[in-house]
Amino acid sequence: MNILIKNGTIVTSDRTFSSDIYIYDNKITQIGNSLNISESIDKTIDAKGFYIFPGGIDPHVHMHLPTPAGYSSDDFESGSSAALFGGTTTLIDFVTPLKGQTLIEALNQRKVEAENSLCDYSFHVSPIEWKDTTEQEIKDCIKAGITSFKVYMAYKDSIGLNDDDIFKVMQVVGKAGGIVTLHCEIGDKIDELKNELAENSKLSPEFHPVSRPTHTESEAVKKAIELAKKAGCSIYIVHTSTEDSIKHIEEAQKTGQIVYSESCPQYLLLDDSKYIGDFKDTSKFIISPPLRKKEDQNILWDSINKGIVKTIGTDHCPFNMKQKIQGINDFRKIPNGAGGVEHRLSLLFTYGVLENIITINQFVDITSTQAAKIFGLYPQKGEIAVGSDADLIIWNPEKENIILLKHINRIVI
Ligand code: URP
Ligand code: ZN
Ligand code: ZN
Repeated sequence: MNILIKNGTIVTSDRTFSSDIYIYDNKITQIGNSLNISESIDKTIDAKGFYIFPGGIDPHVHMHLPTPAGYSSDDFESGSSAALFGGTTTLIDFVTPLKGQTLIEALNQRKVEAENSLCDYSFHVSPIEWKDTTEQEIKDCIKAGITSFKVYMAYKDSIGLNDDDIFKVMQVVGKAGGIVTLHCEIGDKIDELKNELAENSKLSPEFHPVSRPTHTESEAVKKAIELAKKAGCSIYIVHTSTEDSIKHIEEAQKTGQIVYSESCPQYLLLDDSKYIGDFKDTSKFIISPPLRKKEDQNILWDSINKGIVKTIGTDHCPFNMKQKIQGINDFRKIPNGAGGVEHRLSLLFTYGVLENIITINQFVDITSTQAAKIFGLYPQKGEIAVGSDADLIIWNPEKENIILLKHINRIVI
């Protein structure tokens, strides 16, 4: 299908200009004001008064994630539908093998699970144990086109790795020119704090943030940076939520070490007051890392402006109330995660661009271009240029929406 988009304002990470765009066979083939189109046009869209952005790339989502409380409540079809509705056209999800399964087997299985995605997608692959075969398994994934590997410093009883094994992963990935992304929280310390709280019967959701104080994140960030430096590997720290983490990241970046940082709308816009109240309200916000203080939010916005935080992902990992309720008597059993893939762009546009905290070009940079560059998708994605994929958002800046939080008043156990 060939499409002509007329009269729009094109916004990329570094330019804003008025122009028409011609799309042929899913690619942008012409950009300009008096285009020379020889074919008959299937569809013409008048984008007067609208912005045209490169399709959003969400580098951090968990569709159909297996947990003890069941799968996260979006599969690839429903999650990608939400993503597209909000202007995200590419998702980067995760491959998390079962113990004993090879990385490539898990990758192939995940590809099947993602087949019903309505938008484009890629994966970070997670080594969850170090075996004699892991080095070769990572190399096999690289051969299959995967450049990003994710390790968890928390969740030690399931998918977390110890520091020695993280170092080994970093050495192999670094040598191959790939990138290691990290969930930075000191799992052992968190387990200790959780046990202490349990011994004192402190098991309601308000104690979730108490079990994961900011130092458990920032110490993990510091450790990850040290390991990566020694291993010679580029790293990407997911869901950065707190000031002290930012300090370590900034310091490393100043030395020239390649340390990227991601944050998420929930850490920019919500704070830990959400943990005070009834289970039905507070359990929705059981995410890890937990929501932090208002002061952390300001630091994170500032860090976007300073170029320390490069991307905003969502960590989309929704659970419904039937799943959250499994932890009604013990916050440790509440599945960790919340939704967000649909609202990332509108939240950042509303609270970032319209509040004059970030520019519209920065908005494009953090929602699309940087993720494309860091994860090897650029300039096919994350850009509006001749030859790029025609993953475009036509954005009406005047349209208002309200996010309704559906409240369940009665909980049946
Ligand atoms: O609470 C969260 N973030 N759940 C999803 C898994 C993870 O840690 O990213
Ligand atoms: Zn995480
Ligand atoms: Zn995550």
